[in-house]
This record gives sequence, structure tokens and C-alpha cells, in this order.
Amino acid sequence: MSQYEAKSKKSYMIKHTVDRVINEENIVMRRRIHCKMLAAVLLAALTLSSLTACGKGDDSSTQNATAVIENNQSEENSGNTTAASSTESQEMENVVAANAPGVVGTSSKGYAIQNINGATYVNGILIVNKSYSLPASFAPGGITQEVQNAFNQMEADARAQGLNIWIQSSYRSYDYQVSIYNSYVAQDGKALADTYSARPGYSEHQSGLCFDLNSIDDSFTDTPEGKWVDAHAHEYGFVIRFPKGKEAVTGYQYESWHLRYVGLEYAKIMHDNNLCLEEFLGVTSEYAD
Ligand code: DAL
Ligand code: ZN
Repeated sequence: MSQYEAKSKKSYMIKHTVDRVINEENIVMRRRIHCKMLAAVLLAALTLSSLTACGKGDDSSTQNATAVIENNQSEENSGNTTAASSTESQEMENVVAANAPGVVGTSSKGYAIQNINGATYVNGILIVNKSYSLPASFAPGGITQEVQNAFNQMEADARAQGLNIWIQSSYRSYDYQVSIYNSYVAQDGKALADTYSARPGYSEHQSGLCFDLNSIDDSFTDTPEGKWVDAHAHEYGFVIRFPKGKEAVTGYQYESWHLRYVGLEYAKIMHDNNLCLEEFLGVTSEYAD
């Protein structure tokens, strides 16, 4: 006797709850009959389709139909109707339709590229790189609360390991990027500056979705903090935005300290498959001039 049935039988003996129990049993009964009818119809349809297509019975179709039905039943029994995890995949679900407002094209991965008030979103993900800039008016004023919360959790977990990470540079306005880019150009020349500093409007720091940790130079990479961040940032929804070995794709030198928030699911896919954001989305990062 199932838990539900035992509970129902006990309740049945209490007079003032009889009606409710009968109603509940009727509902469950109807659901079970409904489910069995659906299963029978599905099985019949698949068997018929197999006979029609092949002109004879096909054991594998029947087995597949049975598997579908068993799967449905086991999902109903466990109450778990969650879709299969996509974390094994290199792809994300395509959620923005090609005819959605602001769509201006499609990435090489088949995702809609949208222009919304001058900012570019690929399948809903904001992209800021050498190909896709932000208008000067895009000014969130700081990192978003979601990014701050994710950092706080990461920082607390790092601290529990005896490590000290802090945000050295986070949001930068368009105007601030003008001043720092110009100072790098004056120092190193435009060609070299373009390998490590974004032109105004092309910096992800203007998005409010990224930050630089600790020392903002190569010395961070081999510190215990740098190694820990490299191994664990994705567990908090971050990716190392300009990874080692992807310089030709991102357009920038390796920056072990620059983290971009993309959320847990996408960070895991990118980390596990060694994809930078451009590869994951299927876009370029090249200045037009
Ligand atoms: N250092 C990165 C590329 C920036 O300036 O946004
Ligand atoms: Zn940075």
C-alpha cells in the first residue's frame, strides 16, 4: 500500500474528512487513468507509425515507446519533471527568436544578435569587445547586484581557504576609459595599447558585469589566489574573460585577473570546454579600423 493510500485509508475513518478524501482519490484515479490512456495512445501511435513506415513491426520503435512511457511514469512518480542537464553540452539553449525586436543578425553559432539601445546581446548575453561597443550613455554606475553577490560568495569561500581576493577595478564609465586608454597610448603607442586596454566604448568594464582582482598584472597569475580563481571562478558564474591561448580570438593579452559574470550554467560550459566568450557565442572581436 502506497503512502498516499495508507494516508487516505486512515483519513477515510474520520467522518468529517470523508468527502475530501474521496475527492482526492478521484483526482489521483483520474490522473492515473489519464496517464495510462496517454501511454496507450502513444504506444499505439508509435507502433502504427513504425508499421506504416517500414511495412512491418519494429522492435526498436516499440522499445523506444516503452522507454518514453516508463520515463514519463517514473517522472510522475518522483515528481521530477526537470529537463535533462545541458552542462555536458558546448551549446546553450537558443532562447531569442530570429524575429525578436532589435535582431540584426545571427552569430556563427546560430544565436540571434540583438541591438538594444546601442548595446549588443547575443542570445540575450551582453557582449562588449572590439567588434561590439557600448554607447557612452550606457552607464550602470557600478557592478550589478547579482555580480556583487556572486563576488561576495566567492570572496568568502576563498577567505575560508586562507586566500585574500578583492576587487581592484570594477565599473568604469566611458569618460574614465577615455582617460586611461589615452594614457596607455601615450605610454606604449596605439598598437601595443590595443592589446591590453580597450578603446572608449569597447571596454567590458563599462558594462557593470566584470571586475579586475587584486594586482591587475601578470604577477597575480601564479599566486595562490590567482590559481584558486582560475580553478573555481566558474563555480560562482564567472569566467576569465581573456584566457591564455585565446589572444587571437578575444583580441587581448591573457588577463588572469579580469573576471566576467555570465551566470553559473554558461560559466561551467565555457570552463569545461575551454571556450572564451567569443567562441561560446560565435562572434568575432576585431576593431573595424
Ligand atoms: N583590459 C581590458 C581589455 C579593458 O580595458 O577593458
Ligand atoms: Zn579588466
